[in-house]
Amino acid sequence: MRLLKPFYLLLVCFIITADAQESLRKYADSLGLNIGVAIRESYITGTGSSATTHNNIVKTEFNTVVCENAMKSQNLAYSKTTYNFSTADNVVDFAIANKMKIRGHTLVWYRQNAQWLISGDREMLLANMKYHIEKVMGHYRGKIYQWDVVNEPFDEAGSGKFRTDNNPWQTVIGEDYIDSAFVYAHAADPGCKLYINEFGTTFPGPKSEALYDKVKEMLDNGIPVHGVGFQCHEGAVEDTVAAGLYAGIKYNFNRFAELGLDLAVTELDIQSSDPKAQADNYRVYLQVALSFPQCRTFVIWGVSDKDSWRSSGTPLIYDGNFKPKPAYDALLAVLKDPTPVVLVDRRARRLTKAGYLVYDRANNTVRVNDPSSNGPAIMEMFDLRGARIAKVTLRANNPLPLSSMKTAPGTALIRVKDEVVRIARDK
Ligand code: XIL
Repeated sequence: MRLLKPFYLLLVCFIITADAQESLRKYADSLGLNIGVAIRESYITGTGSSATTHNNIVKTEFNTVVCENAMKSQNLAYSKTTYNFSTADNVVDFAIANKMKIRGHTLVWYRQNAQWLISGDREMLLANMKYHIEKVMGHYRGKIYQWDVVNEPFDEAGSGKFRTDNNPWQTVIGEDYIDSAFVYAHAADPGCKLYINEFGTTFPGPKSEALYDKVKEMLDNGIPVHGVGFQCHEGAVEDTVAAGLYAGIKYNFNRFAELGLDLAVTELDIQSSDPKAQADNYRVYLQVALSFPQCRTFVIWGVSDKDSWRSSGTPLIYDGNFKPKPAYDALLAVLKDPTPVVLVDRRARRLTKAGYLVYDRANNTVRVNDPSSNGPAIMEMFDLRGARIAKVTLRANNPLPLSSMKTAPGTALIRVKDEVVRIARDK
């Protein structure tokens, strides 16, 4: 027995160390997910305890970074002849030293501009834009895997109109500034994925429609746009299932994915004073993102609530003392267990109320309640790596046993129309 003791001690040490190594980054790496965070740049070279804690969290928990402000033209392009990349370079060097990816944010935006860049007539603005894009993308060529080329081109109110307020790109050049920006960007770094980035487009609505129409038109015209960034500055809904949160986001993202574009959650923060509801909302955003093979980037807009641009809404996953909140635990849990999410295709959505899919708890099966009015329903199940693990046709009197899907333990969500049915299954 005595001899065995050191072995047990070793085992305990091993277990403790293994636990200590748990991180979002570890599991995201294994899922092929770029889990990112916006960096408060001053911390990178800072020496105080907040800086140390911030930097440790960034490199331990995330594999991707974005500069919160340092790559905006105001902070780079003091004049056409004096660009100063030093702050942004510090972040890039930090990321490279810690084997992290870098998202570029942002090249053409109506805010936080160097004044010279947006002064002049149409010809001048186009020339300035091209110069700026070449200068910045050229400086980081090969180091940045995605750039937000155009940021927030649609109006604040969410009407779906192009943004004209304080936006000389639109008012002086016209709507084609967006196309030009992407053409210049592609020439400046052909290996980089080019994104259009917008807020207030998480769910269907006029702004989302307008964004969809614009990217579709760009694709039709051969403009090199590769991805759509959904900023996702949101507020928490109280009950994510009742609100159909998963279904709403999934439906909206899916339209863009069907165009053949990549997707990214680029600036997620979710305001809430209820940590539990907030955690549940974070969980759903990550589950939706992971259900798309096209969505391999998921960025949170800051580390600690105290440094958030919306700090009064405590929207982040670490509190003001850099302590992980329930939202952190929720994200970790999703990454650890690729919970299956069940989707139902359009044919199923056309079913009448009587014809909805029905989950039979006693038998752990799903069946179509009344298919006589409509055709069979196709149900697809994805794991959270985005891989489809099952596609089944559901017919009347032909219940599908969920227990047969052994590769996907956990909780399943079935959505038909606006209804979300949650199915807790045996592990
Ligand atoms: C914000 C930063 O977080 C703030 O520090 C800064 O004062 C203003 O910009 N959409 C974007 C981001 O694309 O660049 C914005 O970042 C937040 C909204």
